[in-house]
Amino acid sequence: MPVLMSETLQYLDPKPDETYLDLTAGYGGHAGAVRALTNGRAVTLVDRDQMAISQLKERFSDHGAEIIHSDFLSASNQLVQNGRQYDMILADLGVSSPHLNIASRGFAISHDGPLDMRMDQTQAVTAADIVNTYDEEDLVRILRVYGEEPRAKRIAQAIIQQRPLTTTSQLAKIVAQAYRGYSKTHPATRTFQALRIAVNDELRQVEQALPLWIRLLKPGGRLAVISFHSLEDRIVKTILAERAGKRYDAELQLLTKRPVVATKDELVSNPRARSAKLRAAVKIKINERG
Ligand SMILES: C[S@@+](CC[C@H](N)C(=O)[O-])C[C@H]1O[C@@H](n2cnc3c(N)ncnc32)[C@H](O)[C@@H]1O
Repeated sequence: MPVLMSETLQYLDPKPDETYLDLTAGYGGHAGAVRALTNGRAVTLVDRDQMAISQLKERFSDHGAEIIHSDFLSASNQLVQNGRQYDMILADLGVSSPHLNIASRGFAISHDGPLDMRMDQTQAVTAADIVNTYDEEDLVRILRVYGEEPRAKRIAQAIIQQRPLTTTSQLAKIVAQAYRGYSKTHPATRTFQALRIAVNDELRQVEQALPLWIRLLKPGGRLAVISFHSLEDRIVKTILAERAGKRYDAELQLLTKRPVVATKDELVSNPRARSAKLRAAVKIKINERG
């Protein structure tokens, strides 16, 4: 189920015949709602997951949508090179529900599966490659930086001692044993987040692609970004703030002073929305600069 749907539509503010770029189109929830309000054919849908792309093709090809199987950094570079610009751009970051629910994708602590975690299964490096080949220093760095895991060293040592690891349940058990002490969530939650971010190079993707999204906006165009963990949200907040403000050369005006979060009602029906944060901005028209 798409998160923050009505809030996203409020900030994207679709109007008939406007153009739309969805950088993480997934199963097309947000894209379907935007298309219904624009009656638009000028829709570009990007996702790095082949399963998502197959579904998007079934649902949107007949309507003339352009569908791109790619990570969004490469796709954004290509679109900039082609001189494209859009009225609305959405990035709803992170994994989709099928990633978490299909055990064979290896994302979930709660489903036993191979240690995979690749959003794009044509990519070479899996989570198993990282846990089985990285040295202690690199594992500690990944767990600390991407998982903000205070027990990174102990967990890295336990992983190294018990190699080779092949399944998610094996990893979850090793981390739980190494953890000791109280944890509100499963003790392997941070480890799984860290590995997922590393496998998919998630932070670099956002950091390098976000400036391109600003270039891909038409003057007056709206950008909305939904993130699911603080590391990602910090990058989005910082880059949007740098490009906005009262400077003479500001490119953006922020539409959200604070991140927008899910309502209580949404949290009841969609627990995945718990950590979602939406930030939005509009590209300033040159004659409107302060
Ligand atoms: C939260 S889901 C998006 C759901 C979508 N908004 C909907 O309404 O169905 C995130 C999607 O983004 C894709 N994704 C995440 N990071 C990506 C990246 N760097 N490049 C391209 N796609 C990415 C994932 O494969 C996943 O399908």
